Amino acid sequence: MAVMIKDQEAFEKMRRAGKIVAEVLQEMQRLIKPGISTADLDKAAEEIIRSHGALPSFKGYYGYPASICASIDEMVIHGIPNKDTILREGQIISIDVGAKKDGYHGDAARTFPVGRISEEDRKLIKAAKDAFYEGYSRIRPGIHLYKISAGIQKTAEKAGFSVVRDYVGHGIGREMHEDPQVPNYRPRVLSRGLRLEEGMAIAVEPMITAGSWKVEILPDGWGVITRDGSKAAHYENTILITKDGGEITTTLPGLE
Ligand code: MF3
Ligand code: CO
Repeated sequence: MAVMIKDQEAFEKMRRAGKIVAEVLQEMQRLIKPGISTADLDKAAEEIIRSHGALPSFKGYYGYPASICASIDEMVIHGIPNKDTILREGQIISIDVGAKKDGYHGDAARTFPVGRISEEDRKLIKAAKDAFYEGYSRIRPGIHLYKISAGIQKTAEKAGFSVVRDYVGHGIGREMHEDPQVPNYRPRVLSRGLRLEEGMAIAVEPMITAGSWKVEILPDGWGVITRDGSKAAHYENTILITKDGGEITTTLPGLE
């Protein structure tokens, strides 16, 4: 599929979808405490999304059963919310959420601490965010896509962490996943990746681990965990490519 170029009207819709996603993440940030279940978080997320006349992008996506992914500790992504999964002090939890409003999607993720966490886990969470922003800061029309990838990889590895290879960021718009793929490591190919153009929209989403980057899928067919049991962090935003650079749609003041 070709990379879709959006007009100003589409960008406006993507801004609105992005705000809804950011509002959900803000509420997740507020609710996440020892004792709450991931099913409760999912319910709160879905209510916020629907209250805006939007739809949860994830629900029903290849049969996915919930509105958020809630991935604890060594789970990297795609944790299915469950009423029996109760948050405990010292865990870290990655929340990924998508919303579709007036035909356009927003998609974003953050990793949050549950109560007090270790210094090492705090560093891991920060490194995912720093890696994202190093990639993000390189965005402007005309750059090659793998400039972003290389910035993410360099930042994560310098901090002593590993970058997950098996999952990547993506174009986004009328579909949650559009071309191009946005790897979080510099692919070993001659190509520098496509050139970004004004009107493109991408979700950049580093997933990094404290140990090896190797992952495996749980028997439920969704949950992705590190093979070595090391913890993982995820940081994602939906970004519009404008003439001035990248514009993040999925953030609000106070959101990490
Ligand atoms: N939001 C994820 C991504 O960043 C996809 C979630 S998969 C789903 O690409 F099944 F949960 F929808
Ligand atoms: Co995404």
